[in-house]
Amino acid sequence: MKNKRKKIAVFASGNGSNLQALINHSLAKDINGDISIVFSNNPEAYALKRAANHSIKTYCFSQKDFDSRKDFDRKILELMLINEIDLICLAGYMLLLNNEFIKEYENRIINIHPSLLPSFKGMHGIKDAFEYGVKVTGVTVHFVDSELDHGPIIIQKAVEIGENDTVETLEEKIHKTEHFIYPLAIEYFCKDLFEINGRKVSISEREKIED
Ligand code: GAR
Repeated sequence: MKNKRKKIAVFASGNGSNLQALINHSLAKDINGDISIVFSNNPEAYALKRAANHSIKTYCFSQKDFDSRKDFDRKILELMLINEIDLICLAGYMLLLNNEFIKEYENRIINIHPSLLPSFKGMHGIKDAFEYGVKVTGVTVHFVDSELDHGPIIIQKAVEIGENDTVETLEEKIHKTEHFIYPLAIEYFCKDLFEINGRKVSISEREKIED
């Protein structure tokens, strides 16, 4: 529905610095959406603490608590539907979602990945790019489809790797870029500024990303 205020769920398995960036952005600016819940599959995830600090409802359970991976995903999907979630943001969520889940939330699940996709997919995008020796890597925000790190690309931003960079300094640069573009992508989604045609996502001219 056009212009309806969106209810957002963020899934995070770890530190949650991207979650924090989304929270900060939504506090600083009216993005026409609210982070309603945070889900983690990892009870130790610092992301849960960040959510609690802002009185955001959290859910946490692991796939080990279920008979099958399908049951685990079904439980999460049930929670999304009960909470009337419009948009799911993966922010360092290190599990794949199954097809049933993706179908229910088609074009309403967004992921951030620390490389310029389709290069360096997977769990170690920063390290893999650094070790490969590329001179330019970056960050991709994309819709999630049934293939790993594959869905239609929303925003990409390049990050240069300098002679003196280490994996650690590159990580810092990548995170800084992530914290800038992920909130923007979510804001655009909440304001209904995307048009999706196959793999092509266009953003209304009114709100183009600026350096
Ligand atoms: C981020 O760099 C994100 O791009 C990456 O995990 C990190 C989570 O950091 N995601 C992936 O690699 C997904 N394939 P955070 O917990 O501090 O937000």
